[in-house]
Amino acid sequence: MKLLVTGGAGFIGSNFIRLFLATNPDAVIFNFDKLTYAGNLANLADVENQPNYRFVRGDICDEAAVDNVFAESFDAVVHFAAESHVDRSIAGAREFIRTNVEGTLVLLEAARKRKIPRFVHVSTDEVYGSISPKQTAGEDSPLAPNSPYAASKAAADLLVRSYIRTHQFPAIITRSTNNYGPYQFPEKLIPLMISNALEGKKLPVYGDGLNERDWIFVEDHCRAIDAVLQKGKLGEIYNIGSGRPVPNIGIVRSLLKLLDKPEGLIEFVQDRPGHDRRYALDDSRIRRELGWSPVADLDNGLKHTVEWYRSHMDWVHQTKSGEYQQYYEKFYVNRRATLAEL
Ligand code: NAD
Ligand code: TYD
Repeated sequence: MKLLVTGGAGFIGSNFIRLFLATNPDAVIFNFDKLTYAGNLANLADVENQPNYRFVRGDICDEAAVDNVFAESFDAVVHFAAESHVDRSIAGAREFIRTNVEGTLVLLEAARKRKIPRFVHVSTDEVYGSISPKQTAGEDSPLAPNSPYAASKAAADLLVRSYIRTHQFPAIITRSTNNYGPYQFPEKLIPLMISNALEGKKLPVYGDGLNERDWIFVEDHCRAIDAVLQKGKLGEIYNIGSGRPVPNIGIVRSLLKLLDKPEGLIEFVQDRPGHDRRYALDDSRIRRELGWSPVADLDNGLKHTVEWYRSHMDWVHQTKSGEYQQYYEKFYVNRRATLAEL
């Protein structure tokens, strides 16, 4: 199988490429990535010299560059490339619309023109918006995105859907819950908390810390995408989750325990605007139809992740580049206020 992977230098894409090449040694992968702040080629240092892996730097919004890479004939596209951080989308939504919506359109057109037989569009549970206690979102639940990031992903999903319906385009949409694991950029909750704790910095918990996320270990998500790629039904949507939403404060306390650091490092800060209270999925379709289920439980997954970050602090320092630090400082310092001050 010859695959075009977009956004393969990011967190999930790099884990996917590594796992896919290990489990499908005959596969050939082209990784097309713009290398934004979130793209890091060091994430794939261990496969970069393999003859069946090729990196191409490019922007999915650049029609000529996309056309060039499609000169290769691919059996499938796995589309990860996106702006992916909710807080950044609150600070500025334009890049999210450009990459996540317009970039997806450019890829759909290129893949349609070249008659690519399979296109996996990697989306998120955030398109369903906040889910009430005890409820879950199924694939047919209404889309109700609350952040500019989620809105841009929902828009992309609807574009893919329209291509399926209008052009009989052979796409499949996946919607996963929050991922965690090695190589996640330390702006997202889990790697930020681990790296801050290791650096003796405060851990900023938004609001009351009781917002819930259904965490999935990144390799489980990658195996789900592999299953969808190889056996998924064209035109279908597959939710991917772990079935166990956990409050943020519970995650942060577990991390501190694993790191043997004091809870005094926790600092409750002003809540994120539009902060979704709870994500929870009904993912019975992928379990039933494709025989997939997650392998890692949260305790082991967090333990493994903490160990990985502890032994990769060089990687953490390298990814926390000047640009990232400036953004980080400006964004969080402005919002640093305890709940009591609100
Ligand atoms: P990430 O931010 O770590 O990586 C994104 C990658 O896309 C980077 O390598 C970046 O350089 C690349 N990219 C960005 N804009 C580009 C452009 N215009 N052209 C080409 N490449 C570009 O993201 P991630 O966490 O690995 O997420 C990957 C995908 O999975 C995204 O589509 C995201 O919406 C989705 N998703 C993520 C999660 C999660 O918890 N991280 C959960 C569900 C779904
Ligand atoms: P995040 O990792 O940004 O993922 P998402 O917003 O896409 O779910 O955040 C996960 C949860 O953690 C979310 O409820 C916001 C919260 N959070 C904090 O409390 N503090 C932080 O510094 C960050 C980055 C997130």
